[in-house]
Amino acid sequence: MEKAPIRKYRPYPLVDLPDRTWPGRRIERAPIWCSVDLRDGNQSLPIPMTVEEKTEFFEHLVQLGFREIEVGFPSASETEFRFLRKLIEENRIPGDVTVQCLVQCREHLIRRTFEAIEGAPGAIIHFYNSTNPLQREVTFHMSREEIRDIAVSSAQLVRELGKASGCPRLRYQYSPESFSDTELAYSLEVCEAVKEVLQPTPENPLILNLPATVELFTPNVHADQIEWFCRHISNRESVLISLHTHNDRGTGVAATELGLMAGADRVEGTLFGNGERTGNLDIVTVALNLYTQGVDPGLDFSRLPETRSLYERTTRMGVHERHPYAGDLVFTAFSGSHQDAIKKGMEAQKKRTDGRWLVPYLPIDCADIGRTYQAIIRINSQSGKGGVAFVLERSYGIEMPKRMYPEFGRVVTQLADDQTAELNSLQVWEAFEEEYLKRKEPLELRDYFVEHRPREVHRIRLSADITFGGADRRIEGTGNGPIAAFVNALENAGLKDFHLLDYAQHAITRGSAADAVSFVEIQGKADKVPYWGSSIDSNVEAGGLFALVSAYNRAHRSEVPSAGGEAAADKTEQ
Ligand code: KIV
Ligand code: ZN
Repeated sequence: MEKAPIRKYRPYPLVDLPDRTWPGRRIERAPIWCSVDLRDGNQSLPIPMTVEEKTEFFEHLVQLGFREIEVGFPSASETEFRFLRKLIEENRIPGDVTVQCLVQCREHLIRRTFEAIEGAPGAIIHFYNSTNPLQREVTFHMSREEIRDIAVSSAQLVRELGKASGCPRLRYQYSPESFSDTELAYSLEVCEAVKEVLQPTPENPLILNLPATVELFTPNVHADQIEWFCRHISNRESVLISLHTHNDRGTGVAATELGLMAGADRVEGTLFGNGERTGNLDIVTVALNLYTQGVDPGLDFSRLPETRSLYERTTRMGVHERHPYAGDLVFTAFSGSHQDAIKKGMEAQKKRTDGRWLVPYLPIDCADIGRTYQAIIRINSQSGKGGVAFVLERSYGIEMPKRMYPEFGRVVTQLADDQTAELNSLQVWEAFEEEYLKRKEPLELRDYFVEHRPREVHRIRLSADITFGGADRRIEGTGNGPIAAFVNALENAGLKDFHLLDYAQHAITRGSAADAVSFVEIQGKADKVPYWGSSIDSNVEAGGLFALVSAYNRAHRSEVPSAGGEAAADKTEQ
């Protein structure tokens, strides 16, 4: 990092708005919500959703209460196009839900978007171009006038194709992309020019979406920009001002809340804030923040763990343990004094007759969102997989890979169920030992030796003495590392019916400092199920091999708890 004076970065200009009114306002009703999970969220995923996953997600958004859903960028990819066609052709769009399609201000893409919405009962055509000075100069090499003309000619085309489309409920949305980084007066000029073409009315308003495409400054500046814009745009009653914040500085939620105080009507965002880079605005947080102020958000998160499960499954993203409302640990108190105050507060709450929720440290009744309060991490059949991982880490210094949590969570849930009792941390450890460290059937690695061959393509030759199904054998293989060579040896012996997926190792920070814990994940070729294995050893090389044996043995026994157990635990978790 540069030392002062820092020349590399500059502060952003303030908005000249001395009579700003937003600081004294409160949000008293819910905005119009628009989910952009299936577009902004989806486009930022390492593995984008399939059409089936998008369909399931869409239906969940509808159940949550979203009435405007940006379903994709249909002109940009075949999957997006097919997804929208499926929704339309299979009549999956409820009458009170409007699908929104994003498109750049480019003629062929706009035409293709109109092809995608053919037959839809309603749609929002969302067209955008970048307006900020940096992009004008560096990306497009265009003047302000040229950039404005792109927006205007796209508005003309959209209007013309919109008329011809015969779509009964067609609406328009324009975004000056990077609004927050564009000169305010110029954004206004471009939006006015677009508005002039589209001639919106209070009955059919134009949505002007003002994105903080990259979050660059404190939320108060965003609020000033929004208030300034709301005051200056003509025919304010014929436009809906929409917010679309990202979270680069970690204040996307705050910027949106202040933007609503500053007069915006509508909010775009995603569940749990998935989106480009640091994410889009997290709609769950803003909606539940409103709820805790006595404002009905119009979105139903009363089964938040289910929403989270669906989100994690379809996006393959995780929700952080401390994520507002949804994280594993946000309704868990570790500190004795907090626990005591909460306990007393809960008792007082039972006697309360005015219906208010007033419990120290708990701004929301977790039951309202389908969760329960935990005094400490308590391991029972209702415990979350995150809690189990936490106990293992806190008490034994073992940090399981995150993707292993559900598997070991199932093991512990089943044990707690069988015993119909709470488990202490020693029992969790013993379960880990039994499940991963002590398995010797059907495969046991009795001894092995490794020959290093630096000049060969496969640098390692490994001979292993194993017992398989009760019979002793020697097997041999080669590879670029000991694990790869062992896998090859199993293959040569006709014992490889799996793919190797992952390998991780770390030194154990508690107990015997000389030990390391290894994790190996394999996937059965036939059943496609992933299985983790683990070992603890002072020799990291041997540790990897024993972890592979552990995974192998887990994959080759019949009584591994089924995923059904985990799904049931997730529903009641935390
Ligand atoms: O962040 C952004 O500016 C966008 C636009 C395309 C609306 O996602
Ligand atoms: Zn965005």
